[in-house]
Amino acid sequence: MTDRLNGKRIFLTGAAQGIGRAIAEACLKEGASLFLLDMDGDFLKRTVDELGAGPRVAFAAGDISDAAGVQAAMADAERQIGPVNGLINNAGINVFNTPLETTDEEWRRTFDVNLKGAWNCCKAALPGMIAAGGGSVLNIASTHSFTIIPHTFPYPLAKHALIGLTKALALEYAGQGVRVNALAPGYVETQKNVDWWNSFPDPVQARADTMALHPGGRIAQPSEIAMAAVFMISDECPFMNAATLIVDGGLSVLQHP
Ligand SMILES: NC(=O)c1ccc[n+]([C@@H]2O[C@H](COP(=O)([O-])OP(=O)(O)OC[C@H]3O[C@@H](n4cnc5c(N)ncnc54)[C@H](O)[C@@H]3O)[C@@H](O)[C@H]2O)c1
Repeated sequence: MTDRLNGKRIFLTGAAQGIGRAIAEACLKEGASLFLLDMDGDFLKRTVDELGAGPRVAFAAGDISDAAGVQAAMADAERQIGPVNGLINNAGINVFNTPLETTDEEWRRTFDVNLKGAWNCCKAALPGMIAAGGGSVLNIASTHSFTIIPHTFPYPLAKHALIGLTKALALEYAGQGVRVNALAPGYVETQKNVDWWNSFPDPVQARADTMALHPGGRIAQPSEIAMAAVFMISDECPFMNAATLIVDGGLSVLQHP
C-alpha cells in the first residue's frame, strides 16, 4: 500500500463488478477510505468480502437514479467513513438500439442512470465538499462521449451530456476548491463485453474482431482504467479541472487501420 490517496474518503458507485470494482481495489491499495454503492446489493457484498477491505470500506445497496436514496446513502457514508471529499460516478448502463426503435422507457432509463444518476450523486456530495473547502469528482464517461457507433442509441447521447455536466460543475465550483473531471475509457474487458461477444454466432471471432480494431491489438483491463482514476481523484495534479482523459489504447485517434 502507498499513501497516494491517504485522507481521501471516496463515494464510489457501481463498485460490485467491472471497472468500479477495479477502481475500489486500486483506491484501497493507495490508502483511501471508501463508501461503495451498487444496485446489486448481494453482488456488492460478495465483492467487498473478496476485497478483504476491513474497516476502510462501507457499502450499501441503492439505485443512483433515486435522488432521495442517494442523499440518504451520502449521509450514511459521512457517518461511516467521515466527510466525503472524493466522488467517483462510475455506475452506468448500456442501452443500445437504433434511434427510431428506441422506446420511451429505454430513453428514460438511459438518461436517469447515466446522466441524472451522476448528477444526483454530485448534488449530494458537493455541498459538503464546498463547506470543507474542496474535493474532487470524477465522472466515468466513455469514448461514446465523443464518437458514435451506429445502433448504440441512446447511450452515447447520455455520455456526451456527462461531459457537459463535468464542464458545467467544474467551472461553477472551481473557486471553492472543487475539481470535476471525466475519464473516458474505450473498450474494457468487463462482463458486459463478454456477454456482448457471446451474443454473436461466433463469440471467439467477435472477440477477435474487437481486438483487431485497436492499434495495439487488444482492449483494456479494468485495472488499467483504475490506475488513471486513482491519479485523477488524487491531489497529484491540482490544476486538472474540467478535463477529460481518454484511455482507449489510441482507438479514437485512428482514422483507418
Ligand atoms: N466496459 C467498457 O468497455 C466501458 C467502456 C467505456 C465506458 N464504460 C463505463 O464505465 C462504467 C462501468 O462500466 P462496466 O463495464 O464496469 O459496467 P458493469 O456493468 O460491469 O458494472 C456496472 C455496475 O454498476 C451497477 N449499476 C448499474 N446501474 C446502477 C444504478 N442505477 N445504481 C447503482 N448501481 C448501478 C451494476 O449493478 C454493476 O455492478 C459505466 O459508466 C460505463 O458506461 C465502460
